Parts: sequence; C-alpha cells; structure tokens
Amino acid sequence: METRQQRLIREILEADAPKTKTQEQDHSLKQQAWDRALSGEPPRTMTPWEWQDWYAAQGVPITQTQTETHTKTRTDITQHWPSWLIADLRSDHAGETGAVMIYRGLLATSRDKQVRDFAHRHLATEQKHLGMVEDWLPKAHRTRLLPLWRLLGWLTGAIPGLMGPRWVYQTIAAVETFVDEHYQAQLDKLDPTGPHSALREVLASCQADEVAHRDEARAATTERPGWLLRGWCMLVAKGSALAVTAARAA
Ligand SMILES: [Fe+2]
Ligand SMILES: [Fe+2]
Repeated sequence: METRQQRLIREILEADAPKTKTQEQDHSLKQQAWDRALSGEPPRTMTPWEWQDWYAAQGVPITQTQTETHTKTRTDITQHWPSWLIADLRSDHAGETGAVMIYRGLLATSRDKQVRDFAHRHLATEQKHLGMVEDWLPKAHRTRLLPLWRLLGWLTGAIPGLMGPRWVYQTIAAVETFVDEHYQAQLDKLDPTGPHSALREVLASCQADEVAHRDEARAATTERPGWLLRGWCMLVAKGSALAVTAARAA
C-alpha cells in the first residue's frame, strides 16, 4: 500500500519528470529518492509528524526500536572520552548537585526577603546546570559520594542562612569564585573546534552563569567581612577544592 509520504514524493517527482526508458539507468538524486520511497525502507530524514505517519502506516522498524535514547547516545560518546574528561564531568555533576543543595539549605534557614529571592533565582539556574551535566554524563560515571555532597552543600547554604545576609553573599561569592576557576581549568583543556566542542560550549555557558552569580553576590555586600566570616569562606573554598578532588576519583 502506498503511504502518504510515498504518494507525496511520487506526485512531486512525476509532476516534472515523466518516466522514460533511460530512467532505468538514472542515478540522479531525484531517481534515488524515488527508488528509496518505493523500496519500503525507513526514510532517512523526516519531521516528527511525518515519522508518526510513517510508523502508523508501516509499523516501527526494528532498526528504529533499537535506536539509542539521548542518554544512551551520550553513553556511547563517553566510551570514547579520555578518563580525565569523565573525571572532570563527574566533578561538575557533584558540584552542580552541591550548588542546588546550597540554595535549598539557604531557603530552609533564611527568612530575609532579598536573600530568598536571590536563592530562588540561583536555584533555578543550578537545577538547569545539573540537568545539562546529567544529559552528558551517564549514571554509571557519576560520583558514588552524592549523599555526602548533598549534605555538605545543604550545610554550606543553611549555616550562612542562619548567620544573615552578609554571610550568605560572602559565602556565595567564595563558592562561585572557586567554581569559575574550576570551569576555566576544564575549558582550557578542551579545543573549541575539537571533538568536544559541543560539551565545551555547555561548560562555558555554566561558567558564564557562575560568574554572574559571583558578581551579584559581591555587589550585594561591600562590607569587609570579619575574621570569623573570612575563616568560613576559606573553609568553603578549601572544602570545594577537596570535594572536586574526591569527586574526580569516585
Ligand atoms: Fe552551577
Ligand atoms: Fe552558580
């Protein structure tokens, strides 16, 4: 039975190309398209709606049922990645998980309206980052220490949330200063025109958001922090560096 797709192709091709004897030898793109349409083979390119029509008429071919899902495709891509790149992405996944939890911790303890608005906006961005990293990194390669990073991230937000807005902004500025450098070190290893250019663009867009977060936090508090807050920010920066090292390994 001729499908709607085949009928459309036949009508287009026959409109200005009546069959001739020489057509049997015709290797033009037009003739190849017509041959493919008649062969019953799955088409190579169609819109999603045309695929739906095709599946309804022909059934889903085995080659299509075996088509890899988005995540599976990424799995196959990572099979060809160097181990250092997988380790980098594992640390990004741990970091973005921690970032989401920082803002959740902050929202659990702070009642300051400006801080809560800041946290809600940043939380949405960090959730987007986490989704982007998860799109690239299959579950098998993710850190096994995720519960630990969740807890530490939550505390990194909850403690400053209890201490007040100055602590919040100084903490976020310290974290994002570290994250900016962390992403920059990864970008420096990836060629913008090389095989990982698409991944590099994703990481660069995350970095741009982190820099905006850092600058917003810095602008929100101009007071010089006291020794206790300075010590806390140093602890947060050192802890972030240790977490990256641990997440790269496991
Ligand atoms: Fe992020
Ligand atoms: Fe951020």
